[in-house]
Amino acid sequence: MKYIKLIIGFIAMFILIQCRSQKKVQYELPEAMLPHVKVFYKAQCEKGQTLYYLNCAKCHNSKIKGKELIPDFKPEQLTGYTLRVANAQHETNMPDTLVTEEELGIIMTFLGYKKKNNPIVPCCKGK
Ligand code: HEC
Repeated sequence: MKYIKLIIGFIAMFILIQCRSQKKVQYELPEAMLPHVKVFYKAQCEKGQTLYYLNCAKCHNSKIKGKELIPDFKPEQLTGYTLRVANAQHETNMPDTLVTEEELGIIMTFLGYKKKNNPIVPCCKGK
């Protein structure tokens, strides 16, 4: 009886870990990056992800087959100018009183290093 409980416990833990790891966003940091720098960038990416979900996801995430997808923005789209000035939607919905310059920088780090989605998935229509 004791062993059965133990086995069930292990299975439950395994499933839980599987579910959690599926949801987690992976990052693609450059090979040449030094380990301690990687640790720093990974932490920045985690922070950026939280900020992204708070400020950007409602407009930018898409749902494909029940899975929420963060778009793969191109590097040239991830510049402060494009984000703030050249976009009327952002001017009103994302003023720097809501998302500070520093926070935007962290979000861009996250979006820049985020592992790309399946390339079949279309991103950023018309771009
Ligand atoms: C109120 C909705 C809304 C919010 C909130 C929002 N965006 Fe956008 N964003 C848009 C729209 C609309 C476009 C233009 C759509 C397009 O051209 O595909 C856009 C375009 C972009 C682009 C492409 C820029 C380009 O034109 O090259 C990037 C990158 C982007 N948003 C990032 C962000 C980030 C990062 C945040 C959060 C800090 C954010 N957006 C918050 C609506 C929003």
